[in-house]
Amino acid sequence: MGMVTQGKRGVGGGESGGFGKRIMELAERLAQWSEVSDGLTCTYLSPAHRAVAAEIHNWMRQAGLITEIDAVGNVIGRYAADEAAARTLIMASHYDTVRNGGKYDGRLGILTALVLVEHLKRLGRKLPFHLDVIAFSEEEGVRFASSFLGSRAVAGRFDRKLLKRRDADGVTLEAAMRDADLDPAKIPTLARRREELMGYLEVHIEQGPVLLEEGLPVGIVNTIAGSIRSMVTITGTAGHAGTVPMARRHDAAAAAAELVLYVERRCAQVPMLVGTVGQLAVPNGAINIIPGCCELTLDIRAGDDATRDAAMSDVVAEIGRIAARRGVKIESKEVQRTAAVRCSPRLQSLLADAVARVGVTPRHLPSGAGHDAMMFDGLTDVAMLFVRCGNGGVSHSPREIITAEDADIAARVMLDAVLRLAATS
Ligand code: HGY
Ligand code: MN
Ligand code: MN
Repeated sequence: MGMVTQGKRGVGGGESGGFGKRIMELAERLAQWSEVSDGLTCTYLSPAHRAVAAEIHNWMRQAGLITEIDAVGNVIGRYAADEAAARTLIMASHYDTVRNGGKYDGRLGILTALVLVEHLKRLGRKLPFHLDVIAFSEEEGVRFASSFLGSRAVAGRFDRKLLKRRDADGVTLEAAMRDADLDPAKIPTLARRREELMGYLEVHIEQGPVLLEEGLPVGIVNTIAGSIRSMVTITGTAGHAGTVPMARRHDAAAAAAELVLYVERRCAQVPMLVGTVGQLAVPNGAINIIPGCCELTLDIRAGDDATRDAAMSDVVAEIGRIAARRGVKIESKEVQRTAAVRCSPRLQSLLADAVARVGVTPRHLPSGAGHDAMMFDGLTDVAMLFVRCGNGGVSHSPREIITAEDADIAARVMLDAVLRLAATS
């Protein structure tokens, strides 16, 4: 893992301004811990990642919550109801980032929930349910090529086989957890039961241009795209770049190039279907060697699983054609499949009413990005509130940006929704 650039140890930040200003200030503090000196990279259990967990834990404690860091590194703060047997509302998102990511992806949802419970605490306003603020430790799947490790554990969907996954340095997930004083044997105890939950709410940046183009600060998510992620290895024949005639080559990189363009063409055919080759490498490549091997990743998503699966099977068929035509071997290994999710109509209308009450036109929109909320589908009702992204809606980039005003509106919407739930539960 890279170095940690130690940030100023925050003391939980000032209270001045609205919720929005505080959220932006706390996001800045968290962004000071990174594995690289030029940008924000905070991947699972790196020193930077653990420093961020400690800071969030610290803020939750300062807010007077009942806190813990659980067996997979989730940071949990409970704003407890008077009644111990009360059900629980979860408000959550993730604190890990992609490489060279943005400051708000995931973290906005954690910080919005945090400022909301700080406010309730200040007012001395108890809720008839427990409110669990959860900072999930791993959602992006960067280090171990498997997403949602934190939320899977809490939703009871953690597959122990994942513990054998290895990172780029050959370290297993299990070893990385033990190095971080986390005990994998405790993971099954993290799973929440259906009967104890009353819902799951997540605030997240939109990571797209819709709200920006329509001049809306927030929107309500109606569906979350499902995805298939695969690792593809193409094995051709390495050779001298100067002496092998073109007609005799089995060039793995040229085969990969055909596949990349096919994925792009096929996924451009259907709205809400997207296909991405995010990583592509020629291991031990050199300028004067015909690539004998090429490794790439596939990420295929759609608003519904049937569209996604049809695209994936076409890609697999094309892989066979490219392999035959070029005399190369192509292995495609599925590493993750996440079903598309329809958000709870009940919680969507709760959020839409709250959005209207803060004076914003309620806009329901789909999410092309995956989110921790997906892990709770089927266990409890889930809903998400999107916040407008600036810079054309860019995300997974240091150019990811939101405004304090929009963050403030989101926090006020969530406060209204939580108090409405309290009044009606
Ligand atoms: O890839 C995603 O959709 C999310 O950012 N993890
Ligand atoms: Mn992300
Ligand atoms: Mn995210």
